[in-house]
Amino acid sequence: METVYYDLRDTKGKKQDIEDKIRAAARILRDGGLVVIPTETVYGLGANGLDEKAVQRIFEAKGRPQDNPLILHITGQQWLPRYCQEIPPLAYVLTRKFWPGPLTLVLKRKSVVPDVVTAGLDTVAVRCPNNQVTLSIIREAGVPIAAPSANLSGKPSCTTAQEVIEDMEGKIDGLVDGGPCLVGVESTILDLTGEQPRLLRPGGVSVEALERIIGPITVDKAVTGLLPEEEKPRAPGMKYRHYAPNAPITVFTGDPEASAREIASRVGPNTGVICFDEFTRLFPHQVVRSLGPYEDKQMHAQRLFHLLRSFDLSTVTEILAQCPDSRGIGLAVGNRLKRAAGFHVVESDDQRIILGITGGSGAGKSTALEVLKEMGGSVIDCDKLYSALLDENQSLRNEINASFPGVFSLDDVLDRKALGQEVFSKPDRMSRLNSIVYKHLLPDLERRIADVKTGICAVDGISLIESGLDRLCDRTIAVTSPIELRVRRIMARDGISEDYARLRISAQKTDEFYRSKCDYELGNAAETPESFREDVRIFFRRLIDELREEKRYGINRKAENYDD
Ligand code: TXA
Ligand code: MG
Repeated sequence: METVYYDLRDTKGKKQDIEDKIRAAARILRDGGLVVIPTETVYGLGANGLDEKAVQRIFEAKGRPQDNPLILHITGQQWLPRYCQEIPPLAYVLTRKFWPGPLTLVLKRKSVVPDVVTAGLDTVAVRCPNNQVTLSIIREAGVPIAAPSANLSGKPSCTTAQEVIEDMEGKIDGLVDGGPCLVGVESTILDLTGEQPRLLRPGGVSVEALERIIGPITVDKAVTGLLPEEEKPRAPGMKYRHYAPNAPITVFTGDPEASAREIASRVGPNTGVICFDEFTRLFPHQVVRSLGPYEDKQMHAQRLFHLLRSFDLSTVTEILAQCPDSRGIGLAVGNRLKRAAGFHVVESDDQRIILGITGGSGAGKSTALEVLKEMGGSVIDCDKLYSALLDENQSLRNEINASFPGVFSLDDVLDRKALGQEVFSKPDRMSRLNSIVYKHLLPDLERRIADVKTGICAVDGISLIESGLDRLCDRTIAVTSPIELRVRRIMARDGISEDYARLRISAQKTDEFYRSKCDYELGNAAETPESFREDVRIFFRRLIDELREEKRYGINRKAENYDD
């Protein structure tokens, strides 16, 4: 089938030309053809709403189930009485305020409306789109235009003409290109046939805006969750899996920091991520699509469908998505996302998780910590704090000076090597130094750990166990590795001789010590950093999942283990 393409992106063009195109599109519609029309929400697949045969073609082109009724698009409230009856005054209050605009009203229908439009219901959905070209086409056609979103049934709606062509090529008679849709999610559907106005689908007009004008609105169950199999939804369209790209989606609700971290703890190389601008940096190895800044809900709506569609062009096998909160148009964006996910929703909670990580030099502690950071975790680096304290804290320096005379030069510079030699092979001197250091360092470390309110935080300390910091951790992890590998890694990393590398390792606690004191051992016998990183990722993902679940249900397996 040949499609006539009308480019009306720039309506400042020649007036006569535009009027010709509007007339031509209207003629196709009057003659029973299918014309895709731009609206402020999404593109619509239009047909003469009074022509049963024409409307039937819509269902065929979309592959839409016959029991899913269509919206009639009209030019204003003056057309309501032609197609609706028992119109409550409230309807006019709303149309005066919100039409033309993204609000659809469900009202009692008149018999002129064919059954095929309403799927046999005694109500009909009507709306007046806020698009001048489309309004002119409807006016010119002189009939209401039945128009569902112009996508294949089950796919995300189309917000550009290009996307319409992808889905509808060869199935339509005309396409009016009005540029990208401004709102980006479909209209709000409000049922006015019951006792109280009932929200059947959240959309471009927010619940808050409606309630400011007409008072409390009932939100239909189908908006917030999946209806049980046997329950019949009031908006039949709400029962279908919808808006869905090919890869399965999981939606993460809750505080954006928490949901970003939750997603970061679960991603793999083939994960697609939908997130806010603020968090894209957490996903350098994934296919990431941003909804825009967290606060810009208008942008989330504009981008959502385009972004969902774009994943079908990539090779992702799963999609993890951050969800806006449900204020304003966020309710509509979240609703579409959740429906695209078949309501597979994870509520990210703000429980904090503290992991203690310890082990000798060259075992792979730094790599493990890097991976944890990539997963959204933060790190408290005990060694770094110790160094800073040595530089800055005078009372620490005084005590060291008293116990180890001579390690400070005359101009008060600490000779760390000399201090090392003092304690290196003398365990009693070492424990003397440690007790001085812990006394000064621990209060600060304890404060920092207490300050972690959400997310995953690793405490990185070679003396985690000896200092007693391990008792502040949910779990402790020993990173271990065969000595020969450690020697080679330290030599390469620090550019030191083999003898010196061996000496350093011999001054540290053995793997056996760490293994026996920690809850978990993360063994690193990997030849390449890459394969170790993958092991680490899998390890942390499992551990974090387990801990989250424990916290959620208030159990503590660690305590149980200790009782054994
Ligand atoms: O923004 C929009 O509303 C777009 C543009 C093109 O105007 N249209 C749109 O249509 O989203 P569609 O067909 O994709 O979604 C219409 C929804 C369906 O969920 C359908 O079940 C519901 O409206 N609906 C239609 N008539 C109804 C009725 N009489 N009672 C309850 N729900 C109805
Ligand atoms: Mg639709």
